[in-house]
Order: sequence, then C-alpha cells, then structure tokens
Amino acid sequence: MDYARHDRVRAVAWTGQALRLLDQRKLPFEQVFIDLTRPEEVAAAIRDLVVRGAPAIGIAAAWGVVLAARRIEAADGRSAQVALEPVLRELSASRPTAVNLNWALERMRQCLGAAGADWKHRVELEAAAIEAEDLAANRRMGQLGAALIEPGSGVLTHCNTGSLATAGFGTALGVIRAGVAEGRIARVYAGETRPWNQGARLTVWELLQDGIEAVLIADSAAAHLMSTGAVQWVIVGADRITGNGDVANKIGTLALALAARHFGVRFMVVAPSSTVDLATPNGAAIEIEERDPAELLSHRGEPVVAPGVRAWNPVFDVTPAELVSCLVTERGVIERPDAARLHAAFTTH
Ligand code: MRU
Repeated sequence: MDYARHDRVRAVAWTGQALRLLDQRKLPFEQVFIDLTRPEEVAAAIRDLVVRGAPAIGIAAAWGVVLAARRIEAADGRSAQVALEPVLRELSASRPTAVNLNWALERMRQCLGAAGADWKHRVELEAAAIEAEDLAANRRMGQLGAALIEPGSGVLTHCNTGSLATAGFGTALGVIRAGVAEGRIARVYAGETRPWNQGARLTVWELLQDGIEAVLIADSAAAHLMSTGAVQWVIVGADRITGNGDVANKIGTLALALAARHFGVRFMVVAPSSTVDLATPNGAAIEIEERDPAELLSHRGEPVVAPGVRAWNPVFDVTPAELVSCLVTERGVIERPDAARLHAAFTTH
C-alpha cells in the first residue's frame, strides 16, 4: 500500500528544539501549529485538547520529558529520574483515562533509570522510538484489520482515531484507510461524536485530506443506520483495554456496541499494545474523565441552552468485552477477547 498517498496529516512533530503540535481545537477551519518548549506547556496542551487521542498524548508526554531534561543537569540517568519525577507526575495527571499516557511516561522513567552519563541523548532516542513504534503498529493493524473485512462492506467509526490521534495512519481509521485502499470498504460513515465533535471536526476533515469519501451522521442516527444494512462493521479505537477485555473509549462507543449486537453488525476494536492494561482487572476500575459541562452548554462560544441549565459530561464509556467481536493490535487479531485470551497474548514471561 502507498502509505504516503493515503496518510498526509501529522499532528505531533519534534523539531529538534520544540514539540510542534497541530492545534486540534482550531480544526477544521484553521490549521495552526504551535511550538512548545516547556513540559508545563505540554501538560496544558494535553489537558486542553490541543493534542488528543490516546497514542498521541503518550507521544506528546514523552517529548515533554525530553523538554524537561534540557533544563536540568545530572551525573547519570538515575539522578535525573529523581529530579524529573515532579514533571513526570504533572504530565501523568493531565488526563486520566487513556493508559497510553502513563505507559509512555513509564517507558521514559525506565529509560532514565537505566541510562548513564549520556542520559539526555537516551531519553531523546526513547521518545523518538515511542513515536516510530506507534506509526509502525498502526500500519500493521491496518493490514490485519482490513483483512477481516469482506469486499463491498460499509463501516461506521466514532471519534477521531486517525493520524490526528496517533503518530500517523491511525488505529481504527488506519484499518479504514487500508480497507478503502484495498477496495474492501465501499462506504465509510463517521459519527459526529458529541459534545467535542471529534468525528465532525476532525475525522471527516482528515479523510478529506486523504481523498477518502466519508459520510457524516449524527450520533443519534447510528442505530437507524445499522438497521438499514448499510454497515457490516463498527470500527473504533480504545483508550484503555483492561485485563478481561473491557474497552474504555470515547463516550457513545457503548451505545454503538449495543446497537451493533442487536443488528448483527460486527464490532472491531483497534488499538496498539500500549493501550492494553492488564494491571486493571475490568472496566469498572477505570477512571472515567469528566470534562467541563460548558462543552455541552455552548457551541463555538455561543450558548445553546437557557442560562441556569446543568449538564453532566463524562467523555468516555466502557464497552464490556462480550460486545467486542475482535480486538486488533499490532501483535495480531484476538477474536471474542476475554481474560484468558488477553493474558495469553500480552503477558510477558
Ligand atoms: O478525548 P479524546 O479525543 O482524546 O478521545 C480520543 C478517543 O477516544 C479515541 O477514540 C481513542 O483515543 C483511540 S485513538 C487512536
């Protein structure tokens, strides 16, 4: 597959001096890049959704550690690790649900702990490796996931799981890219993904850049779409997959999984192994981020409800493993994921 032709957008880049982020709050109408040189700015960018998507926030945090490393002097990696611990904690606290954030920070911590006098060079190499491995994993998942899709199929996706959410190519959107390129996917539908509208603002824009036709639907149209027979697969990413196969993902994913089961539509979860969290036993143990209710009460700064209305804004939900038809990671495909299959695939001996 000609990856470059189908994957033109990049949201996270290391310039050698700064972390350059495509400001996703401004898409699709403005493409503004901002250069960050301080780890505190990186934590704020993650919190404020300048950069978002589980793998992308892990990668951004890793570069945040590299920026922090530039400010201190230490004889070896172990002493640097101690000095950098407050920054590692601040980055870790920027968003709670996607495990990729802590996974990446833990890798940076381990790298520091093992490094000698050349620790500054080592942490830079580690952040670059985290980014490069994510891109490679996405391309591999694209091949594995697309191979499951019958030619002529329709698919529905949710949130943004593409190059904007990762080092490039994307997770669920990577499977869709590969499936379209291989002629397997004939129809792509994307849900708006209220309230932040990742689907409407980001996914259909990203697909437009790559010449992939997609049809936007209101989230509330998804069950009706499934009832018409137009889609054979719902394909989504994940922010955390627990030891029993439960999947935390963008709010609305659970409703899609329930409707898909009712209508006999298959449900594919696509996520790199950095999203698998065997230490968390099940979905009930995941902290679900709640964001400012203002995201529901106004749109682009304009109020949409009467003054005084209250709102509740959880931004992730948990889909039980039994509603998942298959989990695609770069290590392979797990049909009907459960605790035994997850542990067999991801426990390292
Ligand atoms: O709140 P966001 O936009 O960071 O949420 C992103 C999602 O939920 C994605 O679907 C998930 O991170 C998988 S992305 C590769």
